[in-house]
Amino acid sequence: MEDKEYILGTEKAELHRLGIQHQVWSGEAREAWKKGEFSAGQNILDLGCGPGFCSIELAYMVGEYGKIIAIDQSQGYIDFLNAQATLHGLNIKTICTNYDDMKLMDFSLDGVYSRWALAWITNQEEIIAKIYKAMAPGGVFVAHEYYDWATFQTEPSLPALQKAINVAFNSFNKTGNINIGRKLPELFTDAGLEVISIRPMSKIAIPDELTWEWPKTFLEIYLPKLVSTSFTKKEVQEALMDLADLEDMEGASILCPTMVEVVAVKP
Ligand SMILES: C[S@@+](CC[C@H](N)C(=O)[O-])C[C@H]1O[C@@H](n2cnc3c(N)ncnc32)[C@H](O)[C@@H]1O
Repeated sequence: MEDKEYILGTEKAELHRLGIQHQVWSGEAREAWKKGEFSAGQNILDLGCGPGFCSIELAYMVGEYGKIIAIDQSQGYIDFLNAQATLHGLNIKTICTNYDDMKLMDFSLDGVYSRWALAWITNQEEIIAKIYKAMAPGGVFVAHEYYDWATFQTEPSLPALQKAINVAFNSFNKTGNINIGRKLPELFTDAGLEVISIRPMSKIAIPDELTWEWPKTFLEIYLPKLVSTSFTKKEVQEALMDLADLEDMEGASILCPTMVEVVAVKP
């Protein structure tokens, strides 16, 4: 555990889960970067970069004359990314800080990518205003966040598992706004950005596909963290037993939390 933990934690298993999550969502990220016209020679901020799975891909994209500024408050994730950047020979400037203390140079950013980065805080307006100041005119902000986490459901619905999903959902809004994606068009517009594109992104997972691992690893890692605050150990065990049963059921599926992509430009 680190000093300044955020709600999902930053331990090794969580880092691996973020890797799986990136594999599941990397196609959407690449499409979005195309929309944002991210390209060689640019300076791009990866806000809340985590272990930097996107920072690494973006660094290949901007090449030796461009730069990725990767910001995260987790020292463990930043250390991991620094090691990767060295191994790959990539131009990534990491900064270990929380968003409140981050300092960015005015008009220095050609692009910003933020994925699952804004849902964990309560002062999104302030942070977006800070980033706006740092964007160059014509710079593009590409965001991927949840629009409706509560779409998370299984077929068939299993009582202990569905209850656990509901408890997890409620846990998020104590420290942030898990569905911040739906607010982004308004927040971006208020900050002075012009929204140029928006689309919903949803996934249905079936057993034995990689997409299944996304909700599965989330539940396996996150639910035990709720023991004592929202759950008993027995309730978590029952929910995870439901999940294991679901995986063995013919025709089972999981509708994942719905995401949204918002792309906005600084005039
Ligand atoms: C779900 S992870 C997403 C990581 C990465 N963007 C990705 O798509 O794989 C959220 C990240 O936001 C970071 N984070 C959360 N709150 C933060 C804050 N207030 N300041 C800086 N980083 C924060 C966490 O440390 C974590 O790495």
